[in-house]
Amino acid sequence: MGAGGLRTVEWRDGALVMIDQTLLPGRLERVEARTHAQVADAIRRLVVRGAPAIGVAGAFGMALAAREFGGGTREALLGALGEAREALASTRPTAVNLRWALDRAMAAAEGAPDADAARRAVEDTAVAMAEEDVGANMEMGRHGAGLIGDGETIMTHCNAGALATVAYGTALGTIRAAREAGKGVRVIATETRPVQQGSRLTAFELQHDGIDVSLIPDTAVGYAMAQGMADKVIVGADRILATGHVFNKIGTYQVATMARAHGVPFYVAAPLSTFDLESAPGDVTIEQRDAAELTGTGGRRTAPEGVGVINPAFDVTPPELVTGIITERGVARAPYRASIAALFGAK
Ligand code: MRU
Repeated sequence: MGAGGLRTVEWRDGALVMIDQTLLPGRLERVEARTHAQVADAIRRLVVRGAPAIGVAGAFGMALAAREFGGGTREALLGALGEAREALASTRPTAVNLRWALDRAMAAAEGAPDADAARRAVEDTAVAMAEEDVGANMEMGRHGAGLIGDGETIMTHCNAGALATVAYGTALGTIRAAREAGKGVRVIATETRPVQQGSRLTAFELQHDGIDVSLIPDTAVGYAMAQGMADKVIVGADRILATGHVFNKIGTYQVATMARAHGVPFYVAAPLSTFDLESAPGDVTIEQRDAAELTGTGGRRTAPEGVGVINPAFDVTPPELVTGIITERGVARAPYRASIAALFGAK
């Protein structure tokens, strides 16, 4: 199916098997979670990351919580699942896919007549969500590939690829689909400090699939655009509001601003599960991560002891900088309130 064999999360014999992304690109190894607490820990430590991937991992965390439940009434199981949902939801606050997936797993349990049926319903829902994720990415790829011309160079930021989803990817899915449609396509990947999802993950997975990729430091985005190196930007998203505000990896706003300054179209690719139609921009919690991500690299301290650190993991790009939002149901364009509402209305 063109996903290059990288499947980020898999359900095998009652365990969640995940590629350990903290080890990439040096080692491609998988870790197994058998409890929901292990899944929560994996999400928190970025063993599994990327909005759709943490959503599906969270749903499997609920399936594990249902298995951990020793036996008892349906109500007792629902109570245990409610606690697991909170533990999993508290790991990362910005990507809305996580909360969406946990709520969907919970609703499946609540709809079941007894504890055994609820257990099965949660597991079946998680398995279905994993398959739906791949299907949505392939559809998104089809819509996105139509926007990519033969021979174009696409700039991307962070990792919105197979490694951020179950397989195939969102932004990188559009690039895979363009290639599968016979187009020549090159990628410029930003390094994406401080966690380096661009150099560690995007460069790794594109190379793995034989797609031409060049890495640039985050600080070279303006240079690359001024030199005419990028025909388009395509990034992923952690949350998109009804207004078209896009929350994504820190630095996305800078890339979008540079793209506007240089007349480069700026696209976002995300499934409908990434949309939050209720919140206003000020309601969204931006995850603040550990200072250690900034004060050192590769185990070596690079900043002076005692320095203050501001380390937001995400920023928000306003809709006026977004050329289009590629989803599994088509491409939304300004005015976003109307086009996003139409996507949700379209069956
Ligand atoms: O902190 P991360 O690595 O989970 O952040 C990931 C991103 O910002 C991605 O761009 C986003 O989740 C889209 S993934 C298809």
